[in-house]
Amino acid sequence: MIKRQPFFYDITLRDGNQSLKKPWNTFEKEIIFNHLLELGIQGVEVGFASASDMDYEACSRLAQIAPDNIVISALARCIENDIVKAVKSIDAASKRRVHTFIAMSPFNMEYVLNKSPLEVKKQAIEAVEFARKTIGKNGQVQFSVEHFGDCHENIDFVIDTLKEVVKAGANVINLPNTVERTRPKKFVDLVEKVYNALPKDIIISVHNHNDLGMATATTVESYFAGAIQLECALNGLGERAGNTNLYEVAIALHNSGVDVPLNLSKIYELALTVSDMSNVKIYEKAPLIGPEALAHRSGIHQDGAVKTKDMEKGAYRPIHPSLIGRKDDEKLGFTSQSGKTAIFEIISDAGYPITLQEAQRIAPIAKEEAEKIGELSTRNIIDIYYNNVLNVKGLFKLCNLEKTSDGNSILEFMYKDKKYSMEVSGNGPVDSCIKALQKSGFNFEFLNYEQKALNMGSDATAMTIMQFKAPNGQTIISRGCDESTVKANLKAIFNGLNIIEKLQPESMTTKR
Ligand code: KIV
Ligand code: ZN
Repeated sequence: MIKRQPFFYDITLRDGNQSLKKPWNTFEKEIIFNHLLELGIQGVEVGFASASDMDYEACSRLAQIAPDNIVISALARCIENDIVKAVKSIDAASKRRVHTFIAMSPFNMEYVLNKSPLEVKKQAIEAVEFARKTIGKNGQVQFSVEHFGDCHENIDFVIDTLKEVVKAGANVINLPNTVERTRPKKFVDLVEKVYNALPKDIIISVHNHNDLGMATATTVESYFAGAIQLECALNGLGERAGNTNLYEVAIALHNSGVDVPLNLSKIYELALTVSDMSNVKIYEKAPLIGPEALAHRSGIHQDGAVKTKDMEKGAYRPIHPSLIGRKDDEKLGFTSQSGKTAIFEIISDAGYPITLQEAQRIAPIAKEEAEKIGELSTRNIIDIYYNNVLNVKGLFKLCNLEKTSDGNSILEFMYKDKKYSMEVSGNGPVDSCIKALQKSGFNFEFLNYEQKALNMGSDATAMTIMQFKAPNGQTIISRGCDESTVKANLKAIFNGLNIIEKLQPESMTTKR
């Protein structure tokens, strides 16, 4: 276990909120804020006080209700008015932090700020001095190098500026990958350089956007390179492709043996709430929280998933779903890529009896159907089960069973187009029926018989399970289900005959 605990800094209410089609009001922000507290977050950037009156009001309200141990910050450009407003807005918080930033990449300084590096450096130092004076010695000052990820060419200039900024009063240095353009390693190397250059009591923070989908990787590796504060957003909300997803970072660190100071079991429910409140859908394949994140469709994966279902580590999942409070188990979907395990699990879960051998027998039928229509629903699979286990259609057709006056019965059935009629003894009818069939030239062996009472609907209360041996030696199981135990027996026999006939067409009738 790595001792150094990460400091999770939430930016959903600031960067995330900035990106919403309808940014949150104070009431809505308060709901999310309370969830963040339940999650056990260490710090929250509550807003950009100069963005709007509504955001200023929200910052003030959240600062008022913030517990004493949570760091609360508001964002400000390196402009005095912004800084004053930000500091004022969070005045009520016990742990106050003003967060000021300016771009320092060569490209942005030249084309967006239209300022020389020296002008930017001066502005940064003066803004931090002013922020320190405004918030006082008990408050914190966070300084961000906007577009830090684009500062490869001028990293010495950036580090030099940061040293001055620290002297001016900043105690948190935030390094954003404002736009993710290249590989994580390049960014992490820069983080490491800054970490090595600054005094060790300075908190190094990272804030990564997800333009290329690697923000989680960048943030996790930055932690191992020295960044303690990890700026993340719930559901990965944030400008463009979003900010770093908090859940992914928390779980990746947890799985890496890091002591993550969050209530991980709150994650799943929180993700659904945030999606509802932000109107940003969780996409199907979203890691950990997506509806499909625990779905298995390939037969090999389904087999591994089922074998390790109750274990903490799963063959085909990164965590046990309960770690994040997710109750829906690993879902098995049946497609043409799936196999017997899925049939077995889906039918068993639906409350019907089935063996793996039966599942293996009907899987190809289900696959063929899935090739035509795509993923089968549970209903589709139950229908296949009915038609191929409980009511196997084939060349044998049971027509009638009629009692005679002497207590025996006359059994009538069809094989191909021919009608058969035979007497079945009332004493041991199963045995007698099987013997009669064998005597008529049908070549199969009867191995085993079992009858169970069950409740599968009003017209099916008895289930007969039989085992037969086909002419090639293969053992099959057949079932018959009916209100009447005698009919359940007969259905099991004829289902069995049809199963054998389908497995080895014509082979059982060699004597005929
Ligand atoms: O992405 C960014 O650079 C920011 C800064 C304001 C920290 O959000
Ligand atoms: Zn950002």
